[in-house]
Parts: sequence; C-alpha cells; structure tokens
Amino acid sequence: MTETLLKKPQNEALLLQAAERYGTPTYVYEASTVRERIERLRSHLRGAPVQLLYAMKANGALPLLRIMKEEGLGIDAVSPAELELALRIGFEGNQILFSANNMTDDEMDFAAQEGVVLNIGELSRLERFGKKYPGESVCIRFNPQIGAGHHRHVITAGEKSKFGIPVAQTDEVLSLAHRFELNICGVHQHIGSGILDTETAWKACAVLLDVAAKFHSLRFINFGGGLGVPYRPGEQPLDMERWEDLIVSPLRTYRDRHPSPDLSFRFEPGRYLVAEAGTLLVRVNTVKESHGRTFAGVDSGMGHLVRPAIYNAYHATYNLSNPNGTCRIYDVVGNICESSDFFARDRAVQEIREGDVLAILDTGAYGISMASMYNIRSLPAEVFIDGTDHVVIRKRESPAELIDRLYPEL
Ligand code: LLP
Repeated sequence: MTETLLKKPQNEALLLQAAERYGTPTYVYEASTVRERIERLRSHLRGAPVQLLYAMKANGALPLLRIMKEEGLGIDAVSPAELELALRIGFEGNQILFSANNMTDDEMDFAAQEGVVLNIGELSRLERFGKKYPGESVCIRFNPQIGAGHHRHVITAGEKSKFGIPVAQTDEVLSLAHRFELNICGVHQHIGSGILDTETAWKACAVLLDVAAKFHSLRFINFGGGLGVPYRPGEQPLDMERWEDLIVSPLRTYRDRHPSPDLSFRFEPGRYLVAEAGTLLVRVNTVKESHGRTFAGVDSGMGHLVRPAIYNAYHATYNLSNPNGTCRIYDVVGNICESSDFFARDRAVQEIREGDVLAILDTGAYGISMASMYNIRSLPAEVFIDGTDHVVIRKRESPAELIDRLYPEL
C-alpha cells in the first residue's frame, strides 16, 4: 500500500532550525500544542464537574509535567518512580492516582504513606490493602468487559485483559470493603489507548456508571484515558462535539440522579495532550536500492521510537530538507540490527537525499517514554520549546559518555 498524501508539520522552519542547532536525533516538544490540547479538551467538559489527570507514562519530561501542574491537572502514576517524580514536581498526594499493575506490598505502602489514593485492580491486593489499612480510602479499577484501542496490544479491558476486577465481581469488592470498613472513594476503568471510536468508549462508560451506582461514598468516577489522535494524513481528529454529546452529557444526567456535592468525574489522557506536540528529528545517512525497494537509513531507530515496530504504528514522515521534492516511495529505516527497525514502510516522502533531515511527526506520546538504549546507542536529545524559549532537557551522550555512565569501573 502506498500513501499519496503528505502530512505537514505545523512549524517547519522551527524544526529545521532545531535540527541544525541541536543535531540529530532529537525530540522536539512544543508547549503551545500541549496548552492548546488541554484547552480544547476542557472546552468540551464544561457543565460537568470534571478533573483531568495526566497519564505521565505518555511522556514524563519535566517541562511537560510542569505545564500539567500549572494548568491544574492531576497525575495518573503507574510505578513508584512515576509517583516519586509527581511528588517531587509538587503534585499533592490528593491530585495523584496510583494505578500500578500487579502492585507489590512495598509499592502499596509507599503510595499509602504518601497519602495517595491507590487504584486497585485485583481482589487479592484489595484484601491485603484492607488488612493493612482498614478504614482507609481506596479506588477500584474495574474491567467493564469492553475494550478498544488502535492495536490489540493496547486494549486494556475485555475478556483477554489482565487489567481490573471484572464487573461481575462487584459483590466481592463490596464484601471486602465491608469486612475492612474501606471507603471506596473512586471507581476506575481504562479500556485502551488510541480510541477514535466514541460509541464503544461510551458503552464502557455506561457500564462503569452502573457499577458506580452500587457505591455510596464515591468522590470520583474515573473513565481513564484513551482519546485518540489523527496520525495519518487526512485522518479525522476525534470529533469532540460528538464526544461531548455521547460521553459528557450523560455524566450531567448521572449527577442529577445521584446528587452528591463531592462527586466529580475524571479522565486521565496521555496521548491526546502530548502526541501532536512532539517531533523526532533524524538525519538520513544512507539511501540505497535493494530488490526494487528504496531504503532511507537514518541516525535513529526502534530504540528511540518503538511504536512502528511493536504496533505497526503510523507516524507521518516529512522531508524538512526537501519540502518541495517530488514524492517517491521509501522504506525509512533505523540503525538497529533488527528488521522490525523501521519508521515508515512503502511510504511516499519527498525525494530523500543523504544528509536530509526528516521529521517523524506526532511522536510526543510513547516516544521517549518507551525508548531504550538497545545496541548500546544513546537516547536522542530532547528540546522543549515554549515561545522563544528553548530548553535542552536531555543532552545526547557521546559513546564515551554513555559507557562512562553505564560502567564507571572501566
Ligand atoms: N490511564 C491508564 C491506567 C493507562 O494505563 C493509560 C495508558 C492511560 C491512562 C493513558 O492512555 P492514553 O490517553 O495515552 O491513551 N504504548 C502505547 C499506549 C499504551 C497506553 C498504556 N496505558 C502506544 O504507544 O500506543
């Protein structure tokens, strides 16, 4: 399959300048896009008491976290280090939800001692929590049996999913809560990621609302994240009017039927807020023909952006050095010793020459946060741009610097 349309970056000149100034490979994040997405989402949440949490697993860069804090979002943290980071940035315990999967006792104790609400998705963990912290508040992650997502690897509810307590076990939750006098202050679900199908998302929300009605001291009902973004040229963004009609309006009705001054609704997006704010800049080292294909090999790879390799994810690829070049079909590939190491396959890109700078678009979410140093290659640099301010938030390490850090004994 070939793509004929090109998706253009919003700010070509800025990106090209950044590639010259900071070299490649470099992730560039633009603050204005993040602020715009927060505002856009909020504008569709008016009229219902909603709190937004940011799923920091999407991208934990400090300036991004600071924007979230300034804008009054809370944090969805899923590991002790994410929790530690959120606390150090200055988020209050009550602004954080701790949703570690297969939580250990140490992780449970850490969050509980920091006054952070735990989101528990296993009956056995709930029992352990109850034994150790009777009378405390806790949130329950349910599996509403409806999942969705851009790839089967990111569907996090339904029959095959390891996440959450099946809604069919709600009575067991209630009886454990009763036994340990737990205050179930929240119910939660997260059905998957990269969801553009609002109907399915709503069906799952409706299941959670039914479950919520069985609990009488809820402070929040959390519908998770999952809002998709358009990655492909011409792909329609999430229809936010429809999202508001289908998902937010029923929340107002729920509130009217279950009046409680303390109850709010929560969403915890990651991708929606940061994906389109990020671009990975790479430089082409090699152009070669092989068996009728043209490979453009770049100075980055699956260690820096693993989404194509593991989800066959599409990221628009744009030649910043030859914006008006005639499009030809390329496989844009990385420098890692695996055949799953690609950025784009059979893709129309403006003619690529050795030395050109390519922009891999919409890589602000699950780009650097899933990066590795496979093949012992350094992570890319990261630059955060806010208006005229440029901050290098990660310097690219030279091979010697990397080895010094990894093996100081050598
Ligand atoms: N809440 C919970 C409990 C989650 O596990 C996640 C993501 C989110 C919220 C935020 O989801 P989002 O709004 O970003 O869709 N690596 C995959 C995405 C995995 C998402 C995992 N959980 C990707 O690159 O597509």
